[in-house]
Amino acid sequence: MTSLITETRPAPVCGLDTWVPVAAEIVSIEEENFNTLTFRMRFVDEIHRDNYRFLPGQFNMLYVPGVGEAAISISSDPEETDTIDHTIRVVGSVTRAIQRLGVGGVVGLRGPFGRGWPLEALRGQDVVIVAGGIGLAPMRPAIYSLLRHREQFGRVMLLYGCRSPDDRVFAPQLDQWTDDESIQVLVTVDNATGGWVGPVGVVTNLLQRIRVNAQKTVVLVCGPPILNRVAAWQFLQLHVKPEHVYVSLERNMNCGFGRCGHCQYGRKFVCTDGPVFSFDEIGGVFGRKEI
Ligand SMILES: Cc1cc2nc3c(=O)[nH]c(=O)nc-3n(C[C@H](O)[C@H](O)[C@H](O)COP(=O)(O)OP(=O)(O)OC[C@H]3O[C@@H](n4cnc5c(N)ncnc54)[C@H](O)[C@@H]3O)c2cc1C
Ligand code: FES
Repeated sequence: MTSLITETRPAPVCGLDTWVPVAAEIVSIEEENFNTLTFRMRFVDEIHRDNYRFLPGQFNMLYVPGVGEAAISISSDPEETDTIDHTIRVVGSVTRAIQRLGVGGVVGLRGPFGRGWPLEALRGQDVVIVAGGIGLAPMRPAIYSLLRHREQFGRVMLLYGCRSPDDRVFAPQLDQWTDDESIQVLVTVDNATGGWVGPVGVVTNLLQRIRVNAQKTVVLVCGPPILNRVAAWQFLQLHVKPEHVYVSLERNMNCGFGRCGHCQYGRKFVCTDGPVFSFDEIGGVFGRKEI
């Protein structure tokens, strides 16, 4: 039996207390949908290639000189670190600048940062993954780990929702996982375009299609705030324990390692205490607008 990836956080390539990024080259770009691309990157320096490790759910700070930095989740397999994938929705100055760099372009990278998905806590449990839109990106490393160490978990279910079939990210992989009997995959869309014959409606409707054993289920959620709130609430209604419902949050980041306070969320810092939180850690402030 292979051992499950450790939960000890790997040291960032830049050193924990420094703001200095290291160079990573874009080696390929995969188009996911009209505004989302997966950038495969490789450290220019061989030492960083050899030393870089990350845990599913962690993120990097990507830097474009003269433009700025953005927090981006790592979307590749944590056990294959020669290259690292970042799946990016192009929304603003930094993400547009990364897109402009193209293949062969070099970004600055600091990381990995943050606390990822609690893989050790999933041992022996059924795992329900709920993702919306680009929220599947930080889930993909966890799915790789779950499938690689499949014998250590109960049932594994992925509920994924997006606006239309063309908005799916990792579409070929979703098809591959759908054919894989070791994971139950259900995909729903808001708008059934292009001959879509699957479910239509919000992702939380898919809950009606799965069997949840509340006593031995851990839930991982990542999507827009409304999905995070509704999904967490629905699983709590099914009596899944609050400490077994995990949500990945987004917040404006600056340092990424707990120094600047930009990402404060209640008493927590999203960059170091999160981005993954269990509901019992943040239940008091979760969903409150002024936080
Ligand atoms: C822990 C963490 C992980 C993240 N992982 C990813 C990831 O894997 N992929 C990814 O694409 N993004 C991810 N983000 C979000 C990303 O950091 C922001 O979208 C970032 O602001 C983009 O920088 P920018 O300079 O391109 O856009 P900005 O100039 O900061 O924003 C430009 C405009 O876009 C709007 N905007 C910002 N973010 C979004 C958004 N998410 N959706 C729609 N509009 C938005 C802003 O309100 C603003 O009006 C993550 C954020 C966090 C905190
Ligand atoms: S981003 Fe600086 S403390 Fe979190």
